[in-house]
Amino acid sequence: MITDEQFIINGLAGKKTLEGKINTPGAKNAVLKVLAASILFSDEVTISNVPDIEDVARMLELLEDLGVVVEKQDSKTYRLITSEILTHEISTEISKHLRASIVLTGPLLGRLGKVTFPHPGGCVIGKRPIDFFIEGFKILGADIKDTGSGYEIKVKKNLKGNTIFFKNASVTATENFMMAGVLAEGQTIIKNAAMEPEIVSLGEFLNECGAQITGLGTPEITITGGSLLSGKDKIYHTMPDRIAAGSFVILGALAGKKLEVTNCEPKHLESLLYSLSSAGVKMEIKKDSIIVYGRDSKLTAFDIKTHEYPGFPTDLQAPLAVLLTQSDGQSFLFETIFEGRLNYLETLGRMEADVKIIDAHRALINGPKSLKGREMESPDLRAGLAYVIAAIIASGVSTIHNVYYIDRGYEHIDKSLRAIGVDIKRV
Ligand code: EPU
Repeated sequence: MITDEQFIINGLAGKKTLEGKINTPGAKNAVLKVLAASILFSDEVTISNVPDIEDVARMLELLEDLGVVVEKQDSKTYRLITSEILTHEISTEISKHLRASIVLTGPLLGRLGKVTFPHPGGCVIGKRPIDFFIEGFKILGADIKDTGSGYEIKVKKNLKGNTIFFKNASVTATENFMMAGVLAEGQTIIKNAAMEPEIVSLGEFLNECGAQITGLGTPEITITGGSLLSGKDKIYHTMPDRIAAGSFVILGALAGKKLEVTNCEPKHLESLLYSLSSAGVKMEIKKDSIIVYGRDSKLTAFDIKTHEYPGFPTDLQAPLAVLLTQSDGQSFLFETIFEGRLNYLETLGRMEADVKIIDAHRALINGPKSLKGREMESPDLRAGLAYVIAAIIASGVSTIHNVYYIDRGYEHIDKSLRAIGVDIKRV
């Protein structure tokens, strides 16, 4: 639900006092795709460790609208009964708020032979085209009609397996065609596939339930089509959210005394952990947790270029920029995935960070510079969390509006932060 809630944060003015444990929730960008994949199941799917976030609530609404019966078994476990899918029309109203709704198109086309959908919404981070989806469906033999407000896509009988090459390694397009391939005739080969851990996790679960997917975690994925999957007696346990965990590690490096980020998968954060330790952040990496120690000496500035996995994730670029404002020297920030994802830097500048935006993709940050609390509006969930981190380390009080965007991706963030000593109120 869109609300006008705000966060009021009383900053630490550079003190390093945060202490205790902060739990990593289940990954938004994994669970949303497994929810969409439920359309491929003839019977049911049970999903545990589901984060309580707005995007999950919206995806569940979309599924219910399509005829899926959703049973909440406990606060983190859902059972979806998918024996009947009643319509091929994806709700315009709900998908306006959720970019991930696009991943329903592949499963629906596979299962019902047709799908209609609007241009998807989601975060405002530059142009978010869907041409890979439209082109991919054509290659798999579908007829496409552009209705102006959206698309109507049909196949004669079934999707026909074929080779799809992506110009850029797109996460949702890879997931979408991996799912479409499960019900296509013959083999679907995805080249220049994305390799994010969430894709591997989805593919492995589909394989457990009867799919035949090989090449997961490599740039070439092959799917041999078959029949509907079965989820009886199977549970998908949502993998840890590497972006939430990474954001907490960054917070620990900035304001932690001894902060333990629990239930995470350090292997998925190699590029962040490598950069932080070269900058002088002291950490202890355990099997499923990371302990970050605050330190008195300065962090060294470093350059960051976002990249598809296993490179530095675009979703951690904004939280990391806050750390760069506190590092000694000049950092060069290069966002290569999305344009329009550096606008939040203007707000950091108004907090007195020394930032210079060169163009839509590049910026220079000079540090260290003490930040001053202020009033700000969260433009999207990742920049929103960067504002929360900036407000925590700043002096004075900050008010962050549009908390709805932060709630889209971070589970009860205010509660988790209060537990480690942050003075944050939701009003
Ligand atoms: N692209 C196209 N055409 C397409 C699809 C993508 O040109 O049809 C381009 C994009 O414009 C971009 C590049 O391909 O330049 C890669 O974008 P990608 O498709 O991988 O992004 P996405 O699948 O839309 C997912 C996550 C994002 C995350 C990116 C990159 C979900 C629901 N979203 O988006 O997560 O930033 O991958 O890792 O999985 C977030 O969680 O805040 C978020 C935005």
